[in-house]
Amino acid sequence: MLLLLLLTNAFVLLPWAGAGRITGGKEAVAHSRPYMAFLKIKNATNTRRCGGFLIRPDAVLSAAHCVDMKGSVSVTVILGAHNVSRPEQSQQKIPVVKKFIHPEYSGNGGKNDIMLLKLKKKAEINEYVRNISFAKENEHVRAGDLCTVSGWGRTSLDPPPSDVLMEVELKVQKAKICQQVFSNYQPQTMICVGDENRKKSTRRGDSGGPLVCNKKAYGIVSRGKKLRFFPEVFTRISHFEPWIREKLRSFAIQDIPGSPSSK
Ligand SMILES: *[C@@H]1O[C@H](CO)[C@@H](O)[C@H](O)[C@H]1NC(C)=O
Ligand SMILES: *[C@@H]1O[C@H](CO)[C@@H](O)[C@H](O)[C@H]1NC(C)=O
Repeated sequence: MLLLLLLTNAFVLLPWAGAGRITGGKEAVAHSRPYMAFLKIKNATNTRRCGGFLIRPDAVLSAAHCVDMKGSVSVTVILGAHNVSRPEQSQQKIPVVKKFIHPEYSGNGGKNDIMLLKLKKKAEINEYVRNISFAKENEHVRAGDLCTVSGWGRTSLDPPPSDVLMEVELKVQKAKICQQVFSNYQPQTMICVGDENRKKSTRRGDSGGPLVCNKKAYGIVSRGKKLRFFPEVFTRISHFEPWIREKLRSFAIQDIPGSPSSK
């Protein structure tokens, strides 16, 4: 099966729209990534999954394209999970009360693919649930750096997605590699990542998960090509740090009853 995929990869180039994609990885040690959030996203007729990560007890970061669906969309976050098909004692299920989608997000080309979610209540921080710090404006990864990505996405081209959290190590690549494959690749706002041996990659359902380098989140799973494992595009968090900080500050204002944005 893998060999067949590798052969098709060489000839077919199809963009895969929507929720991103872990292949070639391994099962994560349960609860070794306590910042990971499982997102259940729903409109009246459809349900899909994405990844996300806790950056403050009341805030989860993810990809904007995860909620790019018709109708009114609701998001529920599950923290402290390993196997999402089981009712684990460690899980905390918290509804999202507000979605901050980047105002310049564009589904076409995946620009500014970032979304901040405000949780209905603060998560309880314990051995299973913990926030992770993220890159500041002046903090960058370099080509050749090794990072990890984790998610509950598909483990091959076909469904089903994974019940248990999977993880994979991927390398930061030169911008040029992505520019050759993605016409809308923007080095200031995106990070080019991947396994040049084309054995490891993220897959559908992994979107929104963090690219973690040296214990800090630097990227968000954003785009890839359906039948290609390499390269893939992540949202560059450092570029959006001021926007994230501004939105996080607004959480407190919204909490004041009667303030204009307290809906
Ligand atoms: C839910 O979203 C899907 C994907 O965008 C769409 O096809 C479907 O029509 C939507 N359902 C409603 C009720 O809007
Ligand atoms: C987790 O969130 C708290 C509250 O905002 C913050 O003080 C702390 O620095 C965060 N921890 C990490 C690792 O970012």
